[in-house]
Amino acid sequence: GPATRLVIVANRLPVRWSDEGEEGGRWIPSPGGLVSAVGPAIAQRPGDAAWIGWTGAATEEEPFEVDGLHLHPVAMSDDEKVLFYDGMSNGTLWPLYHDKVVPSEFHRHWFDGYKRVNRRYAEAAAAAAGPEATVWVHDYQLQLVPGMLRELRPDLRIGFFLHIPFPPPEVFQALPWREQLAQGMLGADLNGFQTPEAAANFRRLTMRLGLAEAHGDESVVAGDRVVRACAYPIGIDVARYEGAAHDRETTERARDLRARLGAPHTVLLGVDRLDYTKGIDVRLRALKELLDEGSLNPATVTMVQIAQPSRDDVEAYITLREEVERLVGQINGDHSRVGFPILHYIHQDVEFEELMAMYRAADVMLVTPFRDGMNLVAKEYVAARYDLTGSLVLSEFAGAATELADALLVNPYDVDGLKAAIVRAVSMPPAEARERMERMRAAVEANDASEWADRFLRDLAADRERVTT
Ligand code: G6P
Repeated sequence: GPATRLVIVANRLPVRWSDEGEEGGRWIPSPGGLVSAVGPAIAQRPGDAAWIGWTGAATEEEPFEVDGLHLHPVAMSDDEKVLFYDGMSNGTLWPLYHDKVVPSEFHRHWFDGYKRVNRRYAEAAAAAAGPEATVWVHDYQLQLVPGMLRELRPDLRIGFFLHIPFPPPEVFQALPWREQLAQGMLGADLNGFQTPEAAANFRRLTMRLGLAEAHGDESVVAGDRVVRACAYPIGIDVARYEGAAHDRETTERARDLRARLGAPHTVLLGVDRLDYTKGIDVRLRALKELLDEGSLNPATVTMVQIAQPSRDDVEAYITLREEVERLVGQINGDHSRVGFPILHYIHQDVEFEELMAMYRAADVMLVTPFRDGMNLVAKEYVAARYDLTGSLVLSEFAGAATELADALLVNPYDVDGLKAAIVRAVSMPPAEARERMERMRAAVEANDASEWADRFLRDLAADRERVTT
């Protein structure tokens, strides 16, 4: 409406409809890092904000309100979901941007569906935004929206933030629709990325494609407009995680959890969406070898792996699930005792309170993606460890590795290196754990989700430089 000064556009709304559980269904938080960081950052801002996105439903729904946010659902037919979401977003772009951990597929009809759905989001944003409002578009599913929106509403300030990695031009160039996608992003006044490398890749791409020219260190010029492209590493809602970690209930729940696990000496934990980029398989392979060789003692160690169901209509996710579950079966078959499984594998959504208890209960957190834009689970674990215990094994290929350089950094392709890091984490002297955790906590606290949003929106609001010819 005319009063809306800030419009968020993301594929998903911060809540989605779940038809599991009592009374036929309920709203639950949407999965993934985007919603867990952007949701609270926006909710904390004064003034009315609108959020445009999908609830997971195929039919039109009325706008509604949650936590002071005006939510505008976008409908997506089953056919459009197959082309836009399963297809172009998660069968083409997601693997291409994550180092092709699985091969990327290219299909014209997927791109046509992607365009059609992007147009719907752009039109919804154009209708919701007041005069000269700010529209902040999020992530790889909506890369055409900034360009479409600029055509519909030249009065708007448009920002785009990519939550996942942005690949080098040499990789991106394989996309048959590379110009359209790059042009889409150039429609924004400001493009934000998780890392300086990703931002540099984007600037280099626009120049390589002849769509823009270099302009200072962090901008390009496209036509008569200066487009900024730089890094805004995303953070978590630190107060929420630290607060919940301190809760008496969380402490009791964590104690209870350890008791239920058979009070092992060491609890290892993994928390991921069941996604092939996360390195769940390599982590389990490392665990298996350590147990097989006797480097880890099954009488003293237990692992919990939360694998949140994700994108389960996409082929590569179905294959990954089979592989992970095969490994889980092998490991438990070889090393469990009756009543004491060595590996607890949970292929379910986990509630916030339960997740906090797990972070509190875990001595070693394993975050081993092959490639990850940021990885907020690593930061959440650190925020939960206020007593300065616990160790984090973190992939150097997660964006978070830059800020969390005091974790035990690993190359997830190097199983021997990963095994060595796990052994080191399990036997880390408390004084060393403490020092590392102190520094990691300082890094997490220094870059909170709301500061991240403030920084991005402040830069987006700043006056654009004019291009003089
Ligand atoms: C990542 C992406 C988000 C996405 C989330 C969950 O965090 O960056 O854009 O929403 O995963 O994935 P899904 O496909 O369920 O929305």
